[in-house]
Amino acid sequence: MTASTTYPPALARYRHTAAPYALITGSTAGMGEAWAYALASHGFNLLLHGRSEEKLSSLRDSILSQNVQITPNLDIRYVICDASLVPTNIKPIREAIGKIANLAIVVNNVGGSGGGYDSIEEADPEKLEDEIATNVTFPSLVANATLPKLRQQQPSLMVNVSSISGLFPTPFVTGYSASKAFNRHFSMGIYHEEKALGTQVDVVCLGPGVVVNNRGVQGGGTSMAPLASTWVDNAIKTIAPKLWRSRPPAWSLPHPPHNMAAQFCKLLPESVALGLFRKEMIGLRNNEGNNRAGGGSSANGTGFTHLSARAEARSKAKASATASKSNPPANAASRSGPVSEVTQAGPASAPQPERAPASAPAPALTQSAAAPASPSTAGVSAAKASPHLSKKSVDESANPKPPAAAGPPTTEILAA
Ligand SMILES: NC(=O)c1ccc[n+]([C@@H]2O[C@H](COP(=O)([O-])OP(=O)(O)OC[C@H]3O[C@@H](n4cnc5c(N)ncnc54)[C@H](OP(=O)(O)O)[C@@H]3O)[C@@H](O)[C@H]2O)c1
Repeated sequence: MTASTTYPPALARYRHTAAPYALITGSTAGMGEAWAYALASHGFNLLLHGRSEEKLSSLRDSILSQNVQITPNLDIRYVICDASLVPTNIKPIREAIGKIANLAIVVNNVGGSGGGYDSIEEADPEKLEDEIATNVTFPSLVANATLPKLRQQQPSLMVNVSSISGLFPTPFVTGYSASKAFNRHFSMGIYHEEKALGTQVDVVCLGPGVVVNNRGVQGGGTSMAPLASTWVDNAIKTIAPKLWRSRPPAWSLPHPPHNMAAQFCKLLPESVALGLFRKEMIGLRNNEGNNRAGGGSSANGTGFTHLSARAEARSKAKASATASKSNPPANAASRSGPVSEVTQAGPASAPQPERAPASAPAPALTQSAAAPASPSTAGVSAAKASPHLSKKSVDESANPKPPAAAGPPTTEILAA
């Protein structure tokens, strides 16, 4: 970087040395990728984290070619590390940050869900373990490893990425939702530690609602499901220092429509808000059951992503095994409806997708906009798909839902 280069004023607080670096975990797609482009354009060298060398090197080349005039001497490095490994191993991250003198920003972004809307007893235990490793253990150890470096570079910044679903317990994605609540609690704990210790390490936890990531959430961006770049621009505005504050807020929902939706839910009595969530999640689960039964994809707008190729391979192997056995395994038995229907609908050996493949048509962003099942078949399918659902729940799904626009603005944020 040249001394004469001028950058946008936001984040200037953290750009006080000649060559500050930003570490971004899960940088090869979605919001992580958007952070990488944005931070480069704000004058930060990058340490990109991901699990695919091919994606990391192509991202590095793309950012360098776009920033050649803005930040001519940009240094971009990358580190490969599977966040879902159990036990968690962040040695590559430790080694990579050990080689960096000025680590000014850490964006603890990597995360996702194993996909699908299983109840906890239905969940593949290994998938659940991967989810917790990726969303909880890995970011915790990254925080542990990077804080000493951030202390050397004050003022500096740690961003931890949670989710709106971390605010509201969300059934059928319970592991994900709980892990995102952990992220928020963990981040706010560190914020208060740093404040109590009088450091200038700013710690910010951000809660996305649904954000387009071209996996589970596709599309061109809407107010309730913005593009990742839009969401990151809003996040950077949130972090920008305010005159009356010595440090950015510990927690924020940076995208205004997400914030409004969350505030609306918080105004409701808790039992009402959680009842709405429950109802919406039953709808998403039933819709997934219907899609499976019809041999289609489980397209939905949740933004949940598969965490690891390992988990994906296990899911496929399990689906094949299920199709070839007359007695389904214990986990499958609890959702025996979709399994038997899928077996009838497709070739016995065909692995069943847990979620929309990349080539699938853009999924709807709300349950009400998703491929509708007729009210009668929805009820029947729900009964088959979810023997654990109460009669009331099944009846709810048998009755058509009001269009999303007519209801409270909860639908889009539920599964985020
Ligand atoms: N998108 C949403 O609607 C939404 C809503 C609320 C919260 N969030 C949270 O926001 C964060 C970013 O979400 P996103 O939707 O932007 O993500 P995304 O598009 O799915 O991208 C996830 C990134 O993490 C990487 N990654 C995933 N599993 C990994 C693993 N086991 N090891 C190493 N890298 C791994 C991916 O690598 P590959 O490219 O190799 O897959 C990719 O770079 C996550 O913490 C998520 O929980 C997202």
